[in-house]
Amino acid sequence: MELVVVGYGNMAKAILGGLIRQSKELLDITKIVIAGRAPRKIEAWLQESMQTCRSEFLNDVIYETTYDIECDGRVVLLACKPYNLDSFIFHGRAHIVYSVLAGINAGVLHNHIQSYHYALIMPNVGARYNLSSSAVLWQQHATKNQTIKEVGKVLNLMIDSHNMQEAHEKNNAHIQTQIMRFVSSFGNCEFVESEEELFASIATNGSSPALLALVAQGLINAGVKQGLKLETSQRLVQKTFEGMAALLKEKSPQEIKDLVTSPGGTTAEALLFCDENSVQGNIARACVKAVEKAKEIASKQANI
Ligand SMILES: NC(=O)c1ccc[n+]([C@@H]2O[C@H](COP(=O)([O-])OP(=O)(O)OC[C@H]3O[C@@H](n4cnc5c(N)ncnc54)[C@H](OP(=O)(O)O)[C@@H]3O)[C@@H](O)[C@H]2O)c1
Repeated sequence: MELVVVGYGNMAKAILGGLIRQSKELLDITKIVIAGRAPRKIEAWLQESMQTCRSEFLNDVIYETTYDIECDGRVVLLACKPYNLDSFIFHGRAHIVYSVLAGINAGVLHNHIQSYHYALIMPNVGARYNLSSSAVLWQQHATKNQTIKEVGKVLNLMIDSHNMQEAHEKNNAHIQTQIMRFVSSFGNCEFVESEEELFASIATNGSSPALLALVAQGLINAGVKQGLKLETSQRLVQKTFEGMAALLKEKSPQEIKDLVTSPGGTTAEALLFCDENSVQGNIARACVKAVEKAKEIASKQANI
Protein backbone atom coordinates (compact mmCIF):
# COMPACT_ATOMS: atom_id res chain seq x y z
CA MET A 1 0.00 0.00 0.00
CA GLU A 2 1.20 3.54 -0.68
CA LEU A 3 1.38 6.30 1.92
CA VAL A 4 0.66 9.86 0.79
CA VAL A 5 1.93 12.54 3.15
CA VAL A 6 0.20 15.90 2.70
CA GLY A 7 2.45 18.60 4.19
CA TYR A 8 6.15 18.42 4.98
CA GLY A 9 6.62 20.74 7.98
CA ASN A 10 7.70 20.02 11.55
CA MET A 11 5.07 17.41 12.36
CA ALA A 12 5.46 15.59 9.03
CA LYS A 13 9.23 15.42 9.62
CA ALA A 14 8.81 14.17 13.18
CA ILE A 15 6.44 11.41 12.05
CA LEU A 16 8.46 10.46 8.95
CA GLY A 17 11.58 10.32 11.12
CA GLY A 18 9.97 7.41 12.96
CA LEU A 19 8.25 5.73 10.01
CA ILE A 20 11.36 5.41 7.85
CA ARG A 21 13.04 3.35 10.58
CA GLN A 22 10.33 0.70 10.44
CA SER A 23 10.13 -2.19 8.00
CA LYS A 24 7.78 -1.96 5.04
CA GLU A 25 6.21 -5.23 6.06
CA LEU A 26 5.43 -4.07 9.60
CA LEU A 27 3.78 -0.87 8.37
CA ASP A 28 2.24 -2.55 5.31
CA ILE A 29 3.52 0.42 3.29
CA THR A 30 5.55 -0.02 0.10
CA LYS A 31 6.08 3.52 -1.10
CA ILE A 32 5.89 7.08 0.32
CA VAL A 33 4.54 9.99 -1.70
CA ILE A 34 5.16 13.49 -0.33
CA ALA A 35 2.59 15.87 -1.78
CA GLY A 36 1.88 19.58 -1.55
CA ARG A 37 2.87 22.88 -3.07
CA ALA A 38 6.67 22.43 -2.67
CA PRO A 39 7.37 18.90 -1.37
CA ARG A 40 11.00 18.96 -2.50
CA LYS A 41 11.64 21.21 0.52
CA ILE A 42 11.85 18.05 2.61
CA GLU A 43 13.89 16.00 0.12
CA ALA A 44 17.45 16.71 1.34
CA TRP A 45 16.51 16.06 4.98
CA LEU A 46 14.52 12.93 4.18
CA GLN A 47 17.16 11.39 1.90
CA GLU A 48 19.90 12.02 4.47
CA SER A 49 17.77 10.61 7.30
CA MET A 50 16.96 7.51 5.26
CA GLN A 51 20.60 6.95 4.37
CA THR A 52 21.64 7.33 8.02
CA CYS A 53 19.20 4.70 9.24
CA ARG A 54 19.49 2.52 6.09
CA SER A 55 15.78 2.82 5.56
CA GLU A 56 13.94 0.26 3.45
CA PHE A 57 12.16 3.24 1.87
CA LEU A 58 15.41 4.80 0.55
CA ASN A 59 14.49 4.30 -3.11
CA ASP A 60 10.75 4.43 -2.65
CA VAL A 61 9.91 8.05 -1.94
CA ILE A 62 8.48 10.32 -4.61
CA TYR A 63 7.67 14.03 -4.47
CA GLU A 64 4.54 15.32 -6.16
CA THR A 65 3.98 19.05 -6.51
CA THR A 66 0.23 19.06 -6.59
CA TYR A 67 -2.98 20.06 -4.86
CA ASP A 68 -4.74 17.04 -6.43
CA ILE A 69 -4.29 14.10 -4.10
CA GLU A 70 -5.10 10.61 -5.35
CA CYS A 71 -6.33 8.66 -2.30
CA ASP A 72 -7.94 5.53 -3.70
CA GLY A 73 -6.75 2.48 -1.76
CA ARG A 74 -3.93 4.49 -0.21
CA VAL A 75 -3.03 5.47 3.32
CA VAL A 76 -3.04 9.26 3.73
CA LEU A 77 -1.29 11.31 6.41
CA LEU A 78 -2.59 14.86 6.76
CA ALA A 79 0.14 17.03 8.27
CA CYS A 80 -0.53 20.43 6.74
CA LYS A 81 -2.12 23.33 8.62
CA PRO A 82 -5.81 22.79 9.42
CA TYR A 83 -6.86 25.75 7.25
CA ASN A 84 -4.90 24.33 4.25
CA LEU A 85 -7.34 21.45 3.85
CA ASP A 86 -9.45 23.58 1.53
CA SER A 87 -6.47 24.02 -0.82
CA PHE A 88 -6.42 20.32 -1.69
CA ILE A 89 -8.76 18.18 -3.78
CA PHE A 90 -8.83 14.59 -2.62
CA HIS A 91 -9.86 11.96 -5.16
CA GLY A 92 -11.16 8.45 -4.47
CA ARG A 93 -11.55 6.65 -1.15
CA ALA A 94 -8.55 6.10 1.09
CA HIS A 95 -7.94 3.00 3.17
CA ILE A 96 -6.94 4.94 6.31
CA VAL A 97 -6.61 8.71 6.79
CA TYR A 98 -4.30 9.73 9.62
CA SER A 99 -4.77 13.31 10.72
CA VAL A 100 -2.75 15.40 13.17
CA LEU A 101 -4.70 18.54 12.27
CA ALA A 102 -5.65 20.26 15.50
CA GLY A 103 -9.36 20.98 15.82
CA ILE A 104 -10.48 19.04 12.73
CA ASN A 105 -12.95 16.33 13.70
CA ALA A 106 -13.87 13.23 11.69
CA GLY A 107 -17.05 14.92 10.39
CA VAL A 108 -15.10 17.83 8.88
CA LEU A 109 -12.47 15.45 7.52
CA HIS A 110 -15.17 13.32 5.94
CA ASN A 111 -16.41 16.40 4.03
CA HIS A 112 -12.97 16.83 2.47
CA ILE A 113 -11.66 13.32 2.03
CA GLN A 114 -13.39 9.94 1.75
CA SER A 115 -11.90 7.04 3.66
CA TYR A 116 -12.88 3.71 5.18
CA HIS A 117 -11.07 4.64 8.38
CA TYR A 118 -10.01 7.84 10.08
CA ALA A 119 -7.37 7.93 12.80
CA LEU A 120 -7.33 11.30 14.54
CA ILE A 121 -4.02 11.70 16.34
CA MET A 122 -3.18 14.13 19.12
CA PRO A 123 0.62 13.87 19.07
CA ASN A 124 3.14 16.10 20.80
CA VAL A 125 6.53 17.58 20.22
CA GLY A 126 8.27 14.44 21.57
CA ALA A 127 7.63 12.92 18.12
CA ARG A 128 10.91 14.54 17.11
CA TYR A 129 12.69 11.87 19.19
CA ASN A 130 10.16 9.09 18.50
CA LEU A 131 8.81 9.87 21.97
CA SER A 132 5.48 11.46 21.16
CA SER A 133 2.76 10.80 23.68
CA SER A 134 -0.14 10.32 21.26
CA ALA A 135 -3.84 9.84 21.87
CA VAL A 136 -5.65 8.27 18.91
CA LEU A 137 -9.31 8.18 18.01
CA TRP A 138 -10.15 5.60 15.33
CA GLN A 139 -13.42 6.12 13.50
CA GLN A 140 -14.93 4.19 10.62
CA HIS A 141 -16.98 5.79 7.91
CA ALA A 142 -17.99 2.80 5.85
CA THR A 143 -21.43 1.80 4.68
CA LYS A 144 -22.42 -1.83 5.24
CA ASN A 145 -21.63 -2.72 1.62
CA GLN A 146 -18.27 -1.02 1.79
CA THR A 147 -17.44 -2.85 5.00
CA ILE A 148 -18.36 -6.15 3.35
CA LYS A 149 -16.15 -5.29 0.39
CA GLU A 150 -13.25 -4.41 2.65
CA VAL A 151 -13.64 -7.45 4.87
CA GLY A 152 -13.85 -9.55 1.73
CA LYS A 153 -10.51 -8.24 0.51
CA VAL A 154 -8.79 -9.12 3.75
CA LEU A 155 -10.43 -12.41 4.60
CA ASN A 156 -11.89 -13.82 1.38
CA LEU A 157 -15.44 -12.95 2.33
CA MET A 158 -17.23 -15.60 4.36
CA ILE A 159 -20.87 -16.26 3.56
CA ASP A 160 -22.93 -17.18 6.58
CA SER A 161 -23.82 -14.42 9.03
CA HIS A 162 -21.91 -15.87 12.00
CA ASN A 163 -18.70 -16.03 9.99
CA MET A 164 -19.39 -12.58 8.58
CA GLN A 165 -19.41 -11.19 12.12
CA GLU A 166 -16.18 -13.06 12.84
CA ALA A 167 -14.60 -11.72 9.66
CA HIS A 168 -15.66 -8.20 10.58
CA GLU A 169 -14.09 -8.50 14.03
CA LYS A 170 -10.87 -9.93 12.58
CA ASN A 171 -10.72 -7.12 10.06
CA ASN A 172 -11.22 -4.54 12.82
CA ALA A 173 -8.42 -6.12 14.84
CA HIS A 174 -6.22 -6.01 11.72
CA ILE A 175 -6.95 -2.29 11.13
CA GLN A 176 -6.37 -1.47 14.80
CA THR A 177 -2.97 -3.20 14.64
CA GLN A 178 -2.09 -1.25 11.48
CA ILE A 179 -2.97 2.05 13.20
CA MET A 180 -1.11 1.07 16.34
CA ARG A 181 2.06 0.19 14.38
CA PHE A 182 1.91 3.43 12.39
CA VAL A 183 1.46 5.68 15.43
CA SER A 184 3.90 3.72 17.60
CA SER A 185 6.66 4.37 15.08
CA PHE A 186 6.97 7.91 16.51
CA GLY A 187 6.02 7.31 20.16
CA ASN A 188 3.27 5.56 22.04
CA CYS A 189 -0.30 4.93 20.85
CA GLU A 190 -3.07 5.39 23.39
CA PHE A 191 -6.49 4.69 21.88
CA VAL A 192 -9.35 6.85 23.17
CA GLU A 193 -13.03 6.24 22.58
CA SER A 194 -14.60 9.60 21.81
CA GLU A 195 -13.91 13.08 20.51
CA GLU A 196 -14.43 14.30 24.06
CA GLU A 197 -11.52 12.11 25.22
CA LEU A 198 -9.36 13.23 22.30
CA PHE A 199 -9.96 16.85 23.33
CA ALA A 200 -9.12 15.94 26.94
CA SER A 201 -5.75 14.59 25.77
CA ILE A 202 -4.75 18.17 24.91
CA ALA A 203 -4.35 18.58 28.67
CA THR A 204 -2.28 15.43 29.20
CA ASN A 205 -0.07 15.40 26.11
CA GLY A 206 -1.02 18.04 23.49
CA SER A 207 -0.31 21.26 25.38
CA SER A 208 1.36 19.77 28.43
CA PRO A 209 4.96 20.09 27.11
CA ALA A 210 4.51 23.89 27.35
CA LEU A 211 3.36 23.57 30.98
CA LEU A 212 6.28 21.30 31.82
CA ALA A 213 8.61 23.78 30.09
CA LEU A 214 7.19 26.45 32.41
CA VAL A 215 8.02 24.28 35.43
CA ALA A 216 11.51 23.58 34.05
CA GLN A 217 12.15 27.29 33.50
CA GLY A 218 10.97 28.09 37.05
CA LEU A 219 13.39 25.52 38.48
CA ILE A 220 16.28 26.83 36.36
CA ASN A 221 15.51 30.41 37.43
CA ALA A 222 15.46 29.39 41.10
CA GLY A 223 18.86 27.68 40.74
CA VAL A 224 20.36 30.78 39.13
CA LYS A 225 18.76 33.07 41.73
CA GLN A 226 20.40 31.01 44.45
CA GLY A 227 23.83 31.19 42.81
CA LEU A 228 24.15 28.38 40.22
CA LYS A 229 25.59 29.15 36.79
CA LEU A 230 22.85 29.12 34.12
CA GLU A 231 24.31 26.13 32.22
CA THR A 232 24.75 24.15 35.43
CA SER A 233 21.20 24.88 36.48
CA GLN A 234 19.88 23.86 33.03
CA ARG A 235 21.81 20.56 33.04
CA LEU A 236 20.64 19.70 36.57
CA VAL A 237 17.00 20.35 35.70
CA GLN A 238 17.24 18.44 32.42
CA LYS A 239 18.59 15.36 34.20
CA THR A 240 15.92 15.73 36.88
CA PHE A 241 13.24 15.50 34.15
CA GLU A 242 14.92 12.36 32.78
CA GLY A 243 14.84 10.80 36.25
CA MET A 244 11.20 11.84 36.70
CA ALA A 245 10.24 10.14 33.43
CA ALA A 246 11.71 6.89 34.75
CA LEU A 247 10.13 7.30 38.19
CA LEU A 248 6.66 8.01 36.78
CA LYS A 249 6.70 4.59 35.10
CA GLU A 250 6.72 2.97 38.52
CA LYS A 251 5.25 5.45 40.97
CA SER A 252 2.34 7.86 41.17
CA PRO A 253 3.12 11.59 41.51
CA GLN A 254 1.92 11.42 45.16
CA GLU A 255 4.33 8.53 45.87
CA ILE A 256 7.20 10.51 44.35
CA LYS A 257 6.31 13.51 46.53
CA ASP A 258 6.24 11.29 49.63
CA LEU A 259 9.58 9.79 48.64
CA VAL A 260 11.39 13.13 48.72
CA THR A 261 9.54 14.83 51.59
CA SER A 262 10.85 14.33 55.11
CA PRO A 263 8.93 15.67 58.11
CA GLY A 264 9.79 19.29 58.85
CA GLY A 265 12.23 19.35 55.91
CA THR A 266 12.99 21.55 52.93
CA THR A 267 10.66 19.91 50.38
CA ALA A 268 7.76 20.02 52.89
CA GLU A 269 8.33 23.77 53.10
CA ALA A 270 8.19 24.10 49.30
CA LEU A 271 5.07 21.94 49.00
CA LEU A 272 3.24 23.91 51.70
CA PHE A 273 3.97 27.11 49.74
CA CYS A 274 2.58 25.46 46.56
CA ASP A 275 -0.56 24.32 48.43
CA GLU A 276 -1.14 27.81 49.84
CA ASN A 277 -0.87 29.24 46.32
CA SER A 278 -2.95 26.57 44.54
CA VAL A 279 -0.07 25.70 42.20
CA GLN A 280 -1.41 22.22 41.39
CA GLY A 281 -4.97 23.51 40.92
CA ASN A 282 -3.77 26.32 38.69
CA ILE A 283 -1.79 23.93 36.47
CA ALA A 284 -4.92 21.79 36.09
CA ARG A 285 -7.03 24.90 35.36
CA ALA A 286 -4.52 26.07 32.73
CA CYS A 287 -4.73 22.73 30.92
CA VAL A 288 -8.53 22.75 31.09
CA LYS A 289 -8.39 26.19 29.46
CA ALA A 290 -6.32 24.70 26.60
CA VAL A 291 -8.98 22.01 26.08
CA GLU A 292 -11.77 24.61 26.11
CA LYS A 293 -9.89 26.75 23.58
CA ALA A 294 -9.40 23.73 21.28
CA LYS A 295 -13.13 23.00 21.40
CA GLU A 296 -13.89 26.62 20.55
CA ILE A 297 -11.53 26.51 17.53
CA ALA A 298 -12.96 23.15 16.44
CA SER A 299 -16.51 24.41 16.55
CA LYS A 300 -15.50 27.41 14.38
CA GLN A 301 -13.82 25.02 11.88
CA ALA A 302 -16.93 22.85 11.79
CA ASN A 303 -19.11 25.88 10.95
CA ILE A 304 -16.95 27.15 8.08
N1 LIG B 1 4.05 20.99 15.84
C1 LIG B 1 3.41 20.36 16.81
O1 LIG B 1 3.91 20.14 17.93
C2 LIG B 1 2.00 19.82 16.56
C3 LIG B 1 1.38 19.09 17.58
C4 LIG B 1 0.10 18.57 17.35
C5 LIG B 1 -0.51 18.78 16.12
N2 LIG B 1 0.12 19.52 15.16
C6 LIG B 1 -0.57 19.72 13.88
O2 LIG B 1 0.29 19.36 12.83
C7 LIG B 1 -0.04 20.11 11.67
C8 LIG B 1 1.24 20.63 11.04
O3 LIG B 1 1.92 21.42 11.99
P1 LIG B 1 3.45 21.76 11.82
O4 LIG B 1 3.95 22.19 13.14
O5 LIG B 1 4.14 20.64 11.12
O6 LIG B 1 3.36 23.03 10.83
P2 LIG B 1 4.45 23.56 9.79
O7 LIG B 1 5.81 23.13 10.19
O8 LIG B 1 4.20 25.02 9.63
O9 LIG B 1 4.07 22.81 8.43
C9 LIG B 1 2.87 23.12 7.75
C10 LIG B 1 2.84 22.44 6.39
O10 LIG B 1 1.69 22.92 5.70
C11 LIG B 1 2.09 23.44 4.42
N3 LIG B 1 1.29 24.60 4.00
C12 LIG B 1 1.21 25.80 4.60
N4 LIG B 1 0.39 26.62 3.90
C13 LIG B 1 -0.04 25.90 2.83
C14 LIG B 1 -0.91 26.19 1.74
N5 LIG B 1 -1.55 27.35 1.64
N6 LIG B 1 -1.14 25.22 0.83
C15 LIG B 1 -0.54 24.02 0.95
N7 LIG B 1 0.30 23.69 1.95
C16 LIG B 1 0.55 24.62 2.88
C17 LIG B 1 3.50 23.87 4.62
O11 LIG B 1 4.11 23.94 3.35
P3 LIG B 1 5.05 25.19 2.98
O12 LIG B 1 6.36 24.93 3.70
O13 LIG B 1 5.19 25.11 1.51
O14 LIG B 1 4.38 26.44 3.47
C18 LIG B 1 4.04 22.76 5.51
O15 LIG B 1 4.34 21.62 4.75
C19 LIG B 1 -0.96 21.23 12.09
O16 LIG B 1 -2.25 20.93 11.59
C20 LIG B 1 -0.97 21.17 13.61
O17 LIG B 1 -2.26 21.41 14.10
C21 LIG B 1 1.37 20.03 15.34
